[in-house]
Amino acid sequence: CGIVGYVGARSVVDVVIDGLRRLEYRGYDSAGVALVYQPEGADPYLAFDKKAGKLANLEAVLDGQDRSLEASCGIGHTRWATHGVPSDRNAHPHLSADGRIALIHNGIIENFGQLRAELEADGVEFLSDTDTEVAAHLLGREYAADGDLTEAMTRVCARLEGAFTLLAVAADDPDTVVGARRNSPLVVGLGDGEYFLASDVAAFIAYTTDAVELGQDQIVTISRESGITVRGFDGKPSEGKPFSVDWDIAAAEKGGFETFMRKEINEQPTAVADTLRGRIDETGQIVLDEVRMSDQDFRDIDKVFIIACGTSYHAGLVTKYAIEHWTRIPCEVELASEFRYRDPVLDRSTLVVAISQSGETMDTLMAVRHAKDQKARVLSISNTVGSTIPRESDAVLYTRAGIEVAVASTKAFLTQLAACYLVGLHLAQVRGIKYADEVSAVLDELVAAPGKIAKVIENLEPVREMARQCAALGTDRVLFIGRHVGYPVALEGALKLKELAYLHAEGFAAGELKHGPISLIEDGTPVIAIVPSPRGRSLLHDKIISNIQEVKARGAKVIAICEEGDRITAAHADFVFETPASPTLLSPLLTAVPLQEFAAELATALGRDIDQPRNLAKSVTVE
Ligand code: G6P
Repeated sequence: CGIVGYVGARSVVDVVIDGLRRLEYRGYDSAGVALVYQPEGADPYLAFDKKAGKLANLEAVLDGQDRSLEASCGIGHTRWATHGVPSDRNAHPHLSADGRIALIHNGIIENFGQLRAELEADGVEFLSDTDTEVAAHLLGREYAADGDLTEAMTRVCARLEGAFTLLAVAADDPDTVVGARRNSPLVVGLGDGEYFLASDVAAFIAYTTDAVELGQDQIVTISRESGITVRGFDGKPSEGKPFSVDWDIAAAEKGGFETFMRKEINEQPTAVADTLRGRIDETGQIVLDEVRMSDQDFRDIDKVFIIACGTSYHAGLVTKYAIEHWTRIPCEVELASEFRYRDPVLDRSTLVVAISQSGETMDTLMAVRHAKDQKARVLSISNTVGSTIPRESDAVLYTRAGIEVAVASTKAFLTQLAACYLVGLHLAQVRGIKYADEVSAVLDELVAAPGKIAKVIENLEPVREMARQCAALGTDRVLFIGRHVGYPVALEGALKLKELAYLHAEGFAAGELKHGPISLIEDGTPVIAIVPSPRGRSLLHDKIISNIQEVKARGAKVIAICEEGDRITAAHADFVFETPASPTLLSPLLTAVPLQEFAAELATALGRDIDQPRNLAKSVTVE
């Protein structure tokens, strides 16, 4: 979500809407503003408007309004739904019960269920399905106690768990916007007698390049009269870190990255962490978002089909290895577009897992409907709350990648992997845990993954260099090989390169090479090998080393993605890129990343538009 707050002499509504426009890449399923007015000789008041759909819908409403009185301060929000479908009533701002406080939110309030039950028991009536509304009601109650918005926000934050940026205004305080930040972005812009709060500087760099970065768990108050004050959630005075912004406006719309794809690659650690956050309850059980089937239904499952398209299909291929290993239930993976046309054998005890970032891909939707017609149960994994596939499923787990703009999927893929692992572990749990120790160990490893992904991202320069060399050499084909979960990663690496660079790229199971594809190798043909960890499953490692030798003997230039410290691979490959140690089943979370960057850099070197590659679309709603 994108968030803006402003206090100053300019037209508040214009500044807020302009800021939202620049943040629209962060989400655009609904938008809203709350403005505080102080008419001369009359009581101040608060007005708000919110609309589902793109920002333009909200602008159309505002354009029709009387603008003779300027607001004194205001907040605005552009939403990417997590809790509650995109609709007018779920759009932000949300109001306190007396309508005197308006609040907007980015993030997820994890304990909202408990807080909501508590407030409802006290007679509070909820008007939306969002997690945000609890914060609006709590803030209204706290504000009523002493009429100090900053103090009230401090007390509210003490009760919230999860990740959030909150901004609030009060009808009775026309010179104040208060913001709070935990695990979600919020920056302050300092103008001349005017102050801005926003999810990122893109919102205000048209007005000022002086900014202040806030730390974790800080509360900031902006006011024309007293400027900016910062304090910790503990109430102690604090300070932000001043910085100067040197982006131009165009770049800032992509958060400072040249392309959305680069931005999204960089967001992967956060996206995976967000997807895992709050998914494991106090008893260590995995929690799905929506479940319309009983534990007994899950226990009755005797076969799993995973259906998906494109990159999501590759996430499915990885999942097969995990589900079969953890649950011992047979699992098949199938392209959604093929599934229903071959009359698959499905019944009540079949679980169909549908993976779709958009939740709208027609091939996948049709496969879901076919599965339901055959009485199979459907569990979907999607990045889009309220989209069709989740709506038609019996159970849903949402990935929380945030909006993915670039057509070639990156962060959505990694979050799909994370969600698929959770589904596999959930199945293992509900079916009686033969692998109890393993489940908790895997969860620990999963939680550690975002940090490792960040480490991979920090060290990608050698991969970019390699990609530029391939472009300069006029490489016309690249082969990718892998075994076990490295095989779907090879397929995904090849897909990325096809999508972005328009090169002939293919992924193979490394063992299959000798049965045909090895004939494609010429002197200097790049072969990217996804090498499993040399620890534990060393048999697999030995085998791929043999495959590397086979291609090298035919002139291939081998680029290996291997685990750090893997000396054997280093001795055989022409180039190695090391990833942190990880259990084999989870390793795609790390090994896929250098392949994304390789494709992006090679395509960029060839002058391609990596955000919008030719002939492709992000969400394909035809079969
Ligand atoms: C399109 C996109 C791919 C994506 C596929 C599946 O073809 O270009 O990047 O992987 O659809 O999309 P979904 O939204 O169902 O995951």
